Amino acid sequence: MKKIIIAIDGFSSCGKSTMAKDLAKEIGYIYIDTGAMYRAVTLYCLRHGWFRTDGTVMEEELHRHLDDIRISFRLDPESHRPLTCLNGETVEDDIRSLEVSSHVSPVAAVGFVREMLVRQQQAMGAEKGIVMDGRDIGTAVFPQAELKIFVTASADIRARRRYDELTGKGQEVSYDDILHNVEERDRIDQTRAVSPLRKADDALLLDNSHLTIAEQKAWLKEQYNKVVNAESGN
Ligand code: DC
Repeated sequence: MKKIIIAIDGFSSCGKSTMAKDLAKEIGYIYIDTGAMYRAVTLYCLRHGWFRTDGTVMEEELHRHLDDIRISFRLDPESHRPLTCLNGETVEDDIRSLEVSSHVSPVAAVGFVREMLVRQQQAMGAEKGIVMDGRDIGTAVFPQAELKIFVTASADIRARRRYDELTGKGQEVSYDDILHNVEERDRIDQTRAVSPLRKADDALLLDNSHLTIAEQKAWLKEQYNKVVNAESGN
């Protein structure tokens, strides 16, 4: 069967990665979480003290050390899920902390960081057979993707989901802080100068505010089937 590129974009914490991961596993595609790559760069900056007190990132330092930041993925032998690695160290849990979440937007707005990561992402999809989720996959990374989805849900519902996820992992967090972080990231993601978050004209819109995981999974599989059937001339 012909392999395609599936681009899943949308707001933070709206369950993109869960649906993208599940679909990739089911159809035997590679799954790439591009948000994890921006998060890994952010973790590197935090560890090196490259944030000013006003939250901005020291771009000169970052630019000088860009070649020292190597991001890769390895498969968890138990869950068969990809784990993010930074210079060989597994940082999957560290990059999901609220500290990284609150610093990632300014890093993701830096042009040379985006250029580096977009180049890596395009190389990962050169053979197709890939599900990639992020903010600019259908618009900048793979504008030619055969299937593009743009996912959204209300800020309140997304904050609740992130709160449940973090408290479920034993992290002590406040719902109000998370809601503030979600709204702030929406604002920065949509208004940044380089590749702002926007729906590609040919992307399908999915508002999953009131869908269960099983429902959105079924919806996505249906869209995938439609595209591959059409590509195979069925
Ligand atoms: O999906 P996420 O919350 O893990 O993404 C983390 C941040 O990275 C988010 O604030 C926006 C940014 N991002 C981006 O700018 N482009 C992408 N392709 C993926 C994520």
